[in-house]
Amino acid sequence: MRMRKKKWAIPFLKSQTDLVIENPSIYKGKWKEKLNRNSIRVEIGIGKGAYFDGMSKMYNEDGWIGIEKELNVAAIAAKKLSEEPLENRVLITKDAKDILDWFDKGEIDIIHLNFSDPWPKRSTRKRRLTHSNFIDQYTEILSEEGKIVFKTDNSGLFEFSIIEFTHNGYIIEEISVDYRREKHDEDVITEYEAKFIELNQPIYRLVLKKGRI
Ligand SMILES: C[S@@+](CC[C@H](N)C(=O)[O-])C[C@H]1O[C@@H](n2cnc3c(N)ncnc32)[C@H](O)[C@@H]1O
Repeated sequence: MRMRKKKWAIPFLKSQTDLVIENPSIYKGKWKEKLNRNSIRVEIGIGKGAYFDGMSKMYNEDGWIGIEKELNVAAIAAKKLSEEPLENRVLITKDAKDILDWFDKGEIDIIHLNFSDPWPKRSTRKRRLTHSNFIDQYTEILSEEGKIVFKTDNSGLFEFSIIEFTHNGYIIEEISVDYRREKHDEDVITEYEAKFIELNQPIYRLVLKKGRI
């Protein structure tokens, strides 16, 4: 998600020292202590943070770490989250390519990927958050029973992701090609998702379980 530059974004993010983790590596292996929870979820690419905000309240028994690399977007999310400071959630406003520096082996229980950028050109596929290069890193940081929950509007990205996950040892636990056909009050609608629902487009969803390799 690209946004026009906001002058207030960086100073605001820097001012939110409890919410925005400046140096996530110092908590590597210690996120459960930091968030005072036994189970940790990570959402990569939170955008303006509607899903992260709603889910971290709905599943308050879990610790939540939101990652967003675009600072002008992350600042909007941080503003919303700062209105209700909660001990179980923090943000990392950096590129998820470095997650192995921030999280220890097996430390994360669920990874959420919502409407990840599709990067349609063959030459840019490696940037997809469901490319095997990223999946290898998820496998490292996920617990034995770890899961990945993935939603998208993009059928091409959905097909690509099924192949990538299953070729890398993941088991499909749930699959839907029209997730919002039924009511799912247990899952918050993201900003992008709301737009596609409005356009009557189907939402694709996968829940993947880490296989035993
Ligand atoms: C298409 S938007 C979707 C936003 C939100 N998840 C939603 O569903 O409304 C994808 C977001 O992921 C972020 N993103 C993409 N690649 C990322 C990466 N490697 N690290 C952190 N954030 C990333 C983008 O900056 C963008 O804000």
